[in-house]
Amino acid sequence: MATTPPEGHPPVDWTKWEPAGDGDVRSPCPMINALANHHVLPHDGKQITKEMAIAALVNAIKLDSKIAAVFAGYAVTANPDASAGSFDLDMVDKHGMIEHDVSLSRSDYALGDNHTFDKGVWEGVMSTYEGKEQTDFATVSKARYRRVLASKKAHEEAQKAFEYGIKEFVLSYGESALFLGILGDPKDGKIPVEYLRVLFEQERLPFNEGWRPNEKVVTQTDMNHLIFKLIMANEHKAAEAAEVGVGSVHAVAAAVTGVMSTYCTVM
Ligand code: HEM
Repeated sequence: MATTPPEGHPPVDWTKWEPAGDGDVRSPCPMINALANHHVLPHDGKQITKEMAIAALVNAIKLDSKIAAVFAGYAVTANPDASAGSFDLDMVDKHGMIEHDVSLSRSDYALGDNHTFDKGVWEGVMSTYEGKEQTDFATVSKARYRRVLASKKAHEEAQKAFEYGIKEFVLSYGESALFLGILGDPKDGKIPVEYLRVLFEQERLPFNEGWRPNEKVVTQTDMNHLIFKLIMANEHKAAEAAEVGVGSVHAVAAAVTGVMSTYCTVM
């Protein structure tokens, strides 16, 4: 069964899914890996141009083209061959570019493997959802913040520098906002917990479980809404603001908008 394609674009058959095989490469991002597994991006994960990435994010999963262009633009610059004009999925794990500490499903750069799905890290995050079938802002926010604390502790124990400043803060909140917006209604923060497991654990879009692409694209306004809801739902937002070195929750909120627009003008 295929979903109705946007006019002028080929349909996506979301039932077509194959994990990476020999010689295929993948990234630390569950979504772009899933798109490769569904053949929306090249299945080998290689030679993806900015245009190909933008088209996949906009047409297949309904992300606004400006946001898609920011991620795709960064991804292309991760290629050590600056003249290539494309990237392979395994290039985007470059630490400090998009890849950052406190990932929900990967270990951190200074602690080992920042690339590969880590069941221990992920189950630690998922334990916050125990007993829930649906997400809500408070739980998504709590799960994310607990991961920040766990990552900080692990760095302290290993006597490694923990990198969690405003950029990491925005990316981390942004990634939770992205899965809520793309897998659900970008207003309410509610998606089945099962969708999260399917995306992260199988790197697959949960079409078989009932997910359908949104009718409208997820815009920057939607993203700001989701991020602010997540920040406000964090009981420890003041402590977190101090941790990222901004000082107050209001200053963090202002910085989020600032950093977002910086990213958008960079590209
Ligand atoms: C060209 C587009 C994209 C690129 C290059 C990209 C790249 C990345 C990278 C490098 C990470 C690792 C960050 C970390 O260290 O945790 C990441 C994480 C993530 N990305 Fe993407 N991404 C893209 C698009 C998307 C989209 C459209 C979504 C929508 C749901 C998404 C969802 C996520 C999530 C939820 C994570 C967090 C994974 C974790 O914390 O374990 N990404 N992405």
